[in-house]
Amino acid sequence: MSGFSADWLALREPFDAAARAAATEASLALWAKGRGGPLRIVDLGAGTGANLRHLAPCLPVAQAWTLVEHDPALIAAGEARLPATGAVRAAYRRADLVAELEAVLEEPCDLVTCSALLDLVSADWLERLVRIVRARDLALLAVLTYDGRVHLEPAHPLDEEAIALVNRHQRTDKGFGPALGPEAGIALARALHGAGDAPLLALSDWDAGPGDRAFQRALVEGWAEAASAIAPERAPAIDSWRRDRLRAIEAGGARARVGHVDLLRLPRGQGRAP
Ligand SMILES: C[S@@+](CC[C@H](N)C(=O)[O-])C[C@H]1O[C@@H](n2cnc3c(N)ncnc32)[C@H](O)[C@@H]1O
Repeated sequence: MSGFSADWLALREPFDAAARAAATEASLALWAKGRGGPLRIVDLGAGTGANLRHLAPCLPVAQAWTLVEHDPALIAAGEARLPATGAVRAAYRRADLVAELEAVLEEPCDLVTCSALLDLVSADWLERLVRIVRARDLALLAVLTYDGRVHLEPAHPLDEEAIALVNRHQRTDKGFGPALGPEAGIALARALHGAGDAPLLALSDWDAGPGDRAFQRALVEGWAEAASAIAPERAPAIDSWRRDRLRAIEAGGARARVGHVDLLRLPRGQGRAP
């Protein structure tokens, strides 16, 4: 349904965790502690719950999470791993973020978060999100938004073309209208700045080394598929690039750095929600 398999989400989870910007998390944790009281958190596009698994232990307060997701297979996989007891409660809400964003965020909420979602959304959808967050003065933590920067080693003559095609593919419709793709992080920062906020923006790049073969293979396969889909006339060249890159990965000399950004907005009131 969503095109995101639980296997892929599991493969990327440790790279996401290592990449997430410490500064935004530390600021959020300080805010949560200073504000006191339990935090009601809505995670948009939650997948199998990776954002919950990473963020919950970083926040020094009791938490009630709503994990919003539309894919029943991901919900089933995530439900099996939800915390059962303790200071963190969590439940899935099955909803379509395109049709139901406003309804989803009508529930009591202090922090809206999302991980690896915003590059899929359109400018219109992002505007809807910003409108709600500002109108209700909510905290917002949007992490791991792909920003289009990819650095691969060893260098290959087709790297630049392949990644440019990937970035074109990133802008196609992923269910939300024409996607912002690599522009999403900066578009969110601009929208918030333009409205008078001062969000914190930090890099959260993936860094995969020679030992990370399975992850690097999955990246290259995914990129080759996207590049060939957007430029079928270049499919043979992209396939030879793919085979060369896979050989370099197997030989143990490949690295991949993939650019992402994390953004944090804290409520202007800074206070405790009623
Ligand atoms: C790249 S995955 C990230 C999943 C998870 N946040 C993580 O970090 O592992 C994007 C997620 O957004 C979900 N998604 C995409 N479009 C959606 C929509 N219209 N409504 C609800 N969820 C959606 C997908 O099913 C998928 O779980």
